[in-house]
Amino acid sequence: MTNKPAELHYDGHTIELPVTEGSENERGLDINKLRDATGLVTIDNGFMNTAATSSAVTFLDGEKGILRYRGYPIEELAEKSTFIEVSYLLIYGELPNAARLKWFENQIGKYSATKDGIKSIIKSFPKEAHPMAVLAASVVALAGFHPEYAEGDLTEAQKDEVLPQLMAQVKNIAAYQYRASHGQDLIDANPKKYDYVSDFVAQMYGKEPDVEVIKAMNILLILHADHEQNCSTSSVRLVGSSKANVYASVSAGVDALWGPLHGGANQAVIEMLQEIQADGGDYKKFILKAKNKDDNFRLMGFGHRVYKNFDPRAKIIKKACDTILEKLNVKDPLLAIAKGLEEEALKDQYFVERKLYPNVDFYSGIIYKALNIPTNMFTVMFALGRLPGWEAQWKEMVETTSTKIGRPRQIYIGSKERHFVPLSERK
Ligand code: CMC
Repeated sequence: MTNKPAELHYDGHTIELPVTEGSENERGLDINKLRDATGLVTIDNGFMNTAATSSAVTFLDGEKGILRYRGYPIEELAEKSTFIEVSYLLIYGELPNAARLKWFENQIGKYSATKDGIKSIIKSFPKEAHPMAVLAASVVALAGFHPEYAEGDLTEAQKDEVLPQLMAQVKNIAAYQYRASHGQDLIDANPKKYDYVSDFVAQMYGKEPDVEVIKAMNILLILHADHEQNCSTSSVRLVGSSKANVYASVSAGVDALWGPLHGGANQAVIEMLQEIQADGGDYKKFILKAKNKDDNFRLMGFGHRVYKNFDPRAKIIKKACDTILEKLNVKDPLLAIAKGLEEEALKDQYFVERKLYPNVDFYSGIIYKALNIPTNMFTVMFALGRLPGWEAQWKEMVETTSTKIGRPRQIYIGSKERHFVPLSERK
């Protein structure tokens, strides 16, 4: 059924704006002809009402708390799948059969060696450098070491090489920066012996990975693997839309993810919980701070731009948190503080009215901590998980013939025309 177009009446003219509909009945007003017809642009702070693209990768209904990758519910994938299988699903659109999975793993294995120059870049950072700085710099540096893929337009065959290569390289870089920051020798990938996630853990810690740790990490990486047009993914698409190469595009995603309102929230949550603990554990005091408009403090790990009921990822993570800590026999007092804080906030009018619920980052940090991942590396773990989503969205964008360079308009509010005054005449 075609939707009735909307009518816009402006300045004595009426124009029709077509309404398009997606496969889950999401409707959007198509304003492509708006400026030509009326001279008007739209203003949409934070893109709260703007669909930047059509996409077949991820479906999300924030009101109902639904998240699906390529149609598969996140709950089923987290319970039954593996990160590598989900990565393939996101990038290629279907769950792989056994032969395709083997092919994908082999491709990642084939590109598992990291150039010495990249290792030198990682080692040249000060030990206290933030791991996200090391990751972003090293990912963009790959373009300099792999000019064969450093083009915006790649063939099908080249994409089948570079996307698994980037997965192998980001894993290596994440593990290498950890080793380098601890003054330890770098451990190369061993794809003949290990699956992707186990290899990462072996490269990081230099010992046999624990089965429970690998299970937990698979769940966390799956939950982070894509989230439609979020800030980092939009950055990947925006940079990629200029036909910059995939390394530059993904590196931009890493940069955007770093911020505490986005992926950096997982680090900020643990730091907040530690602050509450150091302050005596009175979380009610911090709820008051979060509500106080004169205080910049926000309850980190709470609230979401699109989830207004609950974040389905947070639900899975909260349950996994209890199970994993029990299996690993870890007793973390921060978990009790987090649960108390959540309980208190969920009955508080301020949070209820604004529909603020725990998001994916609220409990993930406690799990990463139990897995011995250092706090400043939590966002790198998020990036490792989000990488196949960035790749899938980048691939979808470059393969869509109607893609245009991303170039928003503005409403100018600066000075009117004025004329140059030589330095000697300026007051
Ligand atoms: N603590 C206290 N108040 C909050 C919070 C919070 N965490 N989040 C939103 N609010 C208030 C905000 O002050 C505003 O109040 P008012 O209407 O009185 O001005 C109202 O709720 C709406 O907030 P907003 O900032 O306009 O909402 P947004 O959609 O622009 O921002 C957000 C979404 C995630 C940036 C925000 O909720 C936030 O800063 N949360 C904390 C950081 C965080 O946990 N980020 C991780 C997000 S999940 C991982 C990911 O996918 O990136």
